[in-house]
Amino acid sequence: MLSLNNKKAVITGGGSGIGKAIAQLFAKQGAEVHIIELTEVAAEAAVNEIRTTGGKVQAHACNVANHQQVLAVFEQIGNLHILVNNAGIAHVGKADTTSEEDFDRVVNVNIKGVYNCLFAAIPKMKAAGGGAILNMASIAALVGIPDRFVYSTAKGAVKAMTMSVAKDYLSDNIRCNSVSPARVHTPFVDGFLQKNYSDQIPEMFDKLSKTQPIGRMGLPSEVATLALYLCSDEAGFITGCDYPIDGGFTTLNN
Ligand SMILES: NC(=O)c1ccc[n+]([C@@H]2O[C@H](COP(=O)([O-])OP(=O)(O)OC[C@H]3O[C@@H](n4cnc5c(N)ncnc54)[C@H](O)[C@@H]3O)[C@@H](O)[C@H]2O)c1
Repeated sequence: MLSLNNKKAVITGGGSGIGKAIAQLFAKQGAEVHIIELTEVAAEAAVNEIRTTGGKVQAHACNVANHQQVLAVFEQIGNLHILVNNAGIAHVGKADTTSEEDFDRVVNVNIKGVYNCLFAAIPKMKAAGGGAILNMASIAALVGIPDRFVYSTAKGAVKAMTMSVAKDYLSDNIRCNSVSPARVHTPFVDGFLQKNYSDQIPEMFDKLSKTQPIGRMGLPSEVATLALYLCSDEAGFITGCDYPIDGGFTTLNN
């Protein structure tokens, strides 16, 4: 069950948090994993960890927002079966407190980065006879979250891109889905607390934990398990769907 033997998988942002957990699990299940990562040190550390457990993995230094860099990396990787568009950045602000520079930065990584990887990967996936794409959306794409204007904008676009791609490549045997996590405890969350609430980290951590009705944040490994299923052949009947993985956030917060 859920074997990824003989599959080549690309995971963006695989040097940290959710992407790293996905890279570890996919390698454990037999995939040849390619990590595309902005932070080379993090990518190399993830690669070393995965290799010590016998996994097949390679790191590629690349900014997903840079079209030419992405094209060059996918050219090196060659034909592939799985793409996980996971790399993303956070931002706190409302429409009238988000600077143009921050708006462009988040859109460039969280939307254009996904487009760049889709553009480069889909021809290689077609050449491999089909495949599975998984995009990392967020509960911010599903419900109104305070102070997340551009982040929500971007994740809403990721959810829409998922349906568009799922529709366009049905006859190419390419499935496309997204997952929408609520808070998952990763360096992304720790960095967010450090940057925005440095004087009240424990209180904010507790508050963020309790916004999930289940009473805690998710684990990267829990998102990775769902990602494994959606990218496996066992999920062959699933395409064009978004899966909240949110401790009840979207349905039980009443
Ligand atoms: N952690 C959460 O609570 C949460 C909730 C919902 C959705 N998400 C989404 O999950 C994804 C992963 O989040 P995480 O918490 O694991 O984050 P993280 O910050 O721990 O890891 C993200 C990784 O992406 C890399 N990255 C960032 N910009 C990049 C770029 N331009 N090119 C290549 N790599 C880049 C970073 O170097 C980092 O290694 C993001 O898309 C995020 O929006 C996270």
